[in-house]
Amino acid sequence: MDSQPLPRVLLSEADIQTRVSSLAHEIGAAMPGDLHVIGVLTGAFVFLADLIRYIDRALTVDFISASSYGSGTVSRGSVDLLRGVTVPIRGRQVLLVDDIVDTGHTLAALQRYLLEQSPERLHTVCLLDKPSRRQVQVAVEHIGFEIADQFVVGYGLDADARYRNLRYLGVLDPVPRADR
Ligand code: IMP
Ligand code: MG
Repeated sequence: MDSQPLPRVLLSEADIQTRVSSLAHEIGAAMPGDLHVIGVLTGAFVFLADLIRYIDRALTVDFISASSYGSGTVSRGSVDLLRGVTVPIRGRQVLLVDDIVDTGHTLAALQRYLLEQSPERLHTVCLLDKPSRRQVQVAVEHIGFEIADQFVVGYGLDADARYRNLRYLGVLDPVPRADR
């Protein structure tokens, strides 16, 4: 049994699906032809799965993974590549897919890693953007929603590895203390 509270709804399943389908059309128009999609594990897997099914093309998919330190919710700007590409990207048109751009350190490091491999073109799409948290400039050509500085879960995003399966994006309210 699980007695954890369900997060408060920030963006509903319908809000997300509507935006993801229009993002897919925007990307399809901006990146015609050959398309190689690279998702950032783990948070982007749900968004990527929906996004690619709105792009009617024989695209290809790969996943990379990075860890920013410290772990948890705070990024300190040092990013380790945990899993690199498994498919060569030289000369390919590449779409990098992530769940959220926060400080920007993770995406900046991953973009540098991919650009070193000479793709023909690299675009980045993030479902969510917290612009008020940015520490480094990073180019994100396609953004789903701008949100305020709050910790969100669901639709692939986690808090301590939970809630990735929620069909909506939610906010965890502070847990009330039992002694008050
Ligand atoms: P950045 O390097 O600070 O931009 O870190 C981005 C990564 O931190 C994202 O890919 C998420 O994995 C994680 N993250 C940042 N904000 C949130 C949030 O509100 N909920 C869940 N994960 C988050
Ligand atoms: Mg992430």
